[in-house]
Amino acid sequence: MKLIMAIIQPERLAPVRQALAEVDVTAMTVSEARGFGRQGGITTTYRGAEYRVEYVNKLKLDIVVSEPFYQAAIKAIMEAAHTGKIGDGKIFVLDVEKAYRIRTGEEDEVALN
Ligand SMILES: Nc1ncnc2c1ncn2[C@@H]1O[C@H](COP(=O)(O)OP(=O)(O)OP(=O)(O)O)[C@@H](O)[C@H]1O
Ligand SMILES: [Mg+2]
Repeated sequence: MKLIMAIIQPERLAPVRQALAEVDVTAMTVSEARGFGRQGGITTTYRGAEYRVEYVNKLKLDIVVSEPFYQAAIKAIMEAAHTGKIGDGKIFVLDVEKAYRIRTGEEDEVALN
């Protein structure tokens, strides 16, 4: 199993969710996140005054999938979250050791969906 941790622009959530559903990935955790990448935040202009936002609002998606779903899930996120502008986000992938469904005691792949 893999944990796909995706940091995306908040307005891309609906397309990403839809794209994941199309490859049968139907569960995720969504968290509000703030961060910065290599631009170190963004400079923006409001009523003529330039100011700096140190931390940009993003969404963090945590998605645990079994190995056969992994490549399709990455492709779905890469395409649906992509605008081509800076700040589109990042995807990190980690190995997952165990999963449990608390209600039934099911484990690993059968506990995922
Ligand atoms: N190395 C990292 N570790 C943890 N979080 C990161 C890392 N890089 C980026 N992030 C998170 O991802 C968000 C989006 O990053 P962003 O897309 O701006 O990356 P970038 O490397 O600056 O690429 P780009 O040039 O396309 O903007 C950041 O606001 C931050 O929350
Ligand atoms: Mg950036």
